[in-house]
Amino acid sequence: ARQFFVGGNFKMSVFYPSTLEKGQNGTVQSIKEIIENLNNAKIDENVEVVISPPTIYLLLTREHLRSGLEVAAQNVFNKPNGAFTGEISVSQLKDSGITWALLGHSERRTILSESDDFVASKTKAALDGGLGVILCCGESLEQREAEKTIEVVTSQLKAVADAVGKDWSKIVIAYEPIWAIGTGKVASTEQAQEVHKAIREWLKKEVSDEAAEKTRIIYGGSVNEKNCGELAKQEDIDGFLVGGASLKPAFVDIINAKS
Ligand code: 13P
Repeated sequence: ARQFFVGGNFKMSVFYPSTLEKGQNGTVQSIKEIIENLNNAKIDENVEVVISPPTIYLLLTREHLRSGLEVAAQNVFNKPNGAFTGEISVSQLKDSGITWALLGHSERRTILSESDDFVASKTKAALDGGLGVILCCGESLEQREAEKTIEVVTSQLKAVADAVGKDWSKIVIAYEPIWAIGTGKVASTEQAQEVHKAIREWLKKEVSDEAAEKTRIIYGGSVNEKNCGELAKQEDIDGFLVGGASLKPAFVDIINAKS
């Protein structure tokens, strides 16, 4: 069986109310509160938990978060070193105890114009350097309405397969329909399961039987403590990537959705 995986993507996190409703988020203080809440929580031992704070708080998070819970960067560059102002390398993340990178998020694809190939090259760099990758994919509302969902998602994944080849053991695929992100409009269990199943079939056909069987495919987009239980029951949903709700104490309920 695939180990359940729950990621918390804090984004830049100024749009959300702070954990425990104490003012703005994205401060040293609010990050510490979130970490403390997680450190003291009863977390199902069978769940892999990875949180992804803004870059500036990565070291602070790693320093305070209890062992067994992992930290992801929200981005990493595709070059090992050199003059790349504002970028961070895989080895610098590793040196700081950061074991995962979140790549291909729709906000970076759309707002920062990251192409499928750029996302793929960063995925390759991260894997080569020994990081795990939470690889995001997902369609816009327009693409869904044009019945292009599977085509869009699999072409995003194909760029990665072309770059990294057959070893997907350190990739977790996050299916995040853009129309469900931050909108409160969660995909229905049927909609999510349908795409997850199609992704698994694609893995079987284009990568390997093993990748299809073992790769965790997690769902993201308006997941909360109320809707997570039903989604978690779906055969091909192996966890969640949580935005807004990861900044609240109820994140723990989402982590424990299976228990
Ligand atoms: P929300 O959970 O806030 O919809 O965000 C989802 C997301 O984009 C996680 O990466």
